[in-house]
Amino acid sequence: MTTYPDLRTHVSEVLFTEEEIEKMVTDIAARIDEDQQKLGGRLLLLCILKGSVVFMGDLMKKIKTPVEIDFMKVSSYGASSYSSGELKITLDLNREDLSDLHIIIVEDIIDSGKTLSKLVPYLLGRGAASVRSCALLDKPSRRKVDYNADYVGVEIPDEFVVGYGLDYDERYRALPYIGILKREIYEK
Ligand code: PRP
Repeated sequence: MTTYPDLRTHVSEVLFTEEEIEKMVTDIAARIDEDQQKLGGRLLLLCILKGSVVFMGDLMKKIKTPVEIDFMKVSSYGASSYSSGELKITLDLNREDLSDLHIIIVEDIIDSGKTLSKLVPYLLGRGAASVRSCALLDKPSRRKVDYNADYVGVEIPDEFVVGYGLDYDERYRALPYIGILKREIYEK
């Protein structure tokens, strides 16, 4: 029999409980519904893999407007503050005509802002009708480029957060809450 570690013991503090997260997701969904009613047309929720997958699953169930879903995987390069970085697409949006789609990019967290600041113009360049962004968590103190999402759940301090899709070394994504990872886990 294999004994697995209890990953909950690697968290020093629960930052947001399942109930608190649900309330944030419900609020974001209501704001999206309100805006989309004014805007009209087709709504596409675009999940950026992998961290956003849990948020995406909950958000799409709470949005009352009919939604289409799709997925991309991207990573941003260029860590220095004077570089705007490049966007590397490892899984592209596999659709031809975006001209009647109102896209909302769904992100778990905004850190430097590089991913979204590159992705929005990329999708507009492919002809999307409009592109907005949505992030459950936002770390404004880590910003390297000037970018603000259209819908944000909550701003958080610069702590190492895991759970609800967020990982460290591919672990902790399945924790149902968002917690601060103990320093000894990532500093050893
Ligand atoms: C995280 C997060 C965003 C991006 C935000 O993804 O999900 O996509 O980083 O960072 P930025 O604002 O500095 O661009 P990550 O590259 O960790 O991949 P993952 O979602 O697969 O864990």
